[in-house]
Amino acid sequence: MRFDIITVLPQLLESPFAHSILQRAQKKDLTAIHVHNLREYTSNKQKSVDDYPYGGGSGMVMQIEPFANCIDQLKAERDYDEIIYMTPDGQTLNQEIANGLIQHKNIMILCGHYKGIDQRIRDIYVTKEISIGDYVLSGGELPAAILVDAIVRLIPGVLSDETSALSDSFQDGLLDAPIYSRPVEWKGHKVPDILLSGHEAKIAEWRHEQQLQRTKERRPDLLND
Ligand code: ADE
Repeated sequence: MRFDIITVLPQLLESPFAHSILQRAQKKDLTAIHVHNLREYTSNKQKSVDDYPYGGGSGMVMQIEPFANCIDQLKAERDYDEIIYMTPDGQTLNQEIANGLIQHKNIMILCGHYKGIDQRIRDIYVTKEISIGDYVLSGGELPAAILVDAIVRLIPGVLSDETSALSDSFQDGLLDAPIYSRPVEWKGHKVPDILLSGHEAKIAEWRHEQQLQRTKERRPDLLND
């Protein structure tokens, strides 16, 4: 699975993809993540990518030309299953959306800045708009990194234990059960006896009950869904 991310701040995306699971996934050729600097696709000397909004108003608008140049070039090289624009007014990212994107071969992601991007880029090129929550960030880079992480960890072979992505919170519509490791007792706080019992069926039952209880307490909206 290949990602092409278009941004004015490629440096901001270096670290999130250079460590841990995302780094291993690239080393194992399970994914390829390419970051493109939008400024390399401008035709003006100053390499500016933004301009004042028509009709007035505050903030700058990212212009259509650099995005169009970059997107057209990438599209000439391969077909894209989705061209995603990260924006607070998109569909809110959840596990179901990440699961749905995993089947794709090539995904392009556009990161906006300033007030946003010229509407015509959205109308002409963008196939999906995704938000990571109801708050506004300075740009689409961190949201893009979050989206890529949520998808890549689902690719078979990326996580060492194949079942662990399936047992993530949200995969079955529930939050995760509490987890514990050594020591059995720390400053008087004990691990629940059931987890030490070795009784697999009972442990599974206990975990499921805990998941239900946690979800009921913290995210009752998930149970209603
Ligand atoms: N860009 C700025 N804020 C964002 C958000 N909440 N989600 C996605 N992209 C964004």
